[in-house]
Amino acid sequence: MTTDFTPPPSFSIPTERLHISYLQPGNPTHSTFLHHLWNTDEFIKSEGPTGLDTPEKAAKFIATRVQGDYNRNKHGQMLVSLKPHLGASLAESKMIGIVSLMKGEPPNAYTQPDVGYTILPEENGKGYATEAAIGVIDYARRELGVKGVFGFCSSGNARSRRVLEKIGLEFRGERKLTVFGGVQSAIYALPEMDQDLAVYGITD
Ligand SMILES: CC(C)(COP(=O)(O)OP(=O)(O)OC[C@H]1O[C@@H](n2cnc3c(N)ncnc32)[C@H](O)[C@@H]1OP(=O)(O)O)[C@@H](O)C(=O)NCCC(=O)NCCS
Repeated sequence: MTTDFTPPPSFSIPTERLHISYLQPGNPTHSTFLHHLWNTDEFIKSEGPTGLDTPEKAAKFIATRVQGDYNRNKHGQMLVSLKPHLGASLAESKMIGIVSLMKGEPPNAYTQPDVGYTILPEENGKGYATEAAIGVIDYARRELGVKGVFGFCSSGNARSRRVLEKIGLEFRGERKLTVFGGVQSAIYALPEMDQDLAVYGITD
């Protein structure tokens, strides 16, 4: 049972240098940004093409898939914006990436979400993915009752694996996950989570 959730435009999870906020269905600035971010050479090299090859497809994706996650969980794909100076507001900040906390779509959902991130190539290596991931996880545990968090990434994505370690997740081996189309993935989890991943529905 899900209810519609209207993502508040001015809501933000502030961290020291960033704001984390909801993608707004119907906001062309957000869909244009998402289209750009997920079509950089860097992103396609590590994640492959998403199929969002026009801003219009990105707008539809936000209105359906992203909104669907918000309706089910009050979290999902969220915007990461960089403050131009300490204490700057969300409106003053510049979009630099996406951080996500996703449970997947039923019936392929696990019981706990996984964290993901993309930061514009020109802003890489400054700790922003790490800061955004910590911010969204802390918020979800504190305000949304999220108990466990996974990190899944392709085994060869050393940079992403480093981020997962820096945010305090623990390596739990590799599996071919159905949610990743059966591709071999490295699995990370919060240290306090059960060693038996079947408890969370991971039975692949
Ligand atoms: C992965 C990604 C989000 C990292 O963003 P970022 O803001 O640069 O991340 P951070 O700066 O917080 O941390 C990156 C860490 O990886 C390290 N790193 C960079 N290149 C590396 C490499 N080739 N091998 C191992 N570690 C590497 C950095 O040194 C840094 O660690 P450190 O702080 O200990 O020095 C960004 O590169 C990206 O968007 N990539 C494309 C999309 C993607 O792969 N997303 C992950 C999907 S699971």
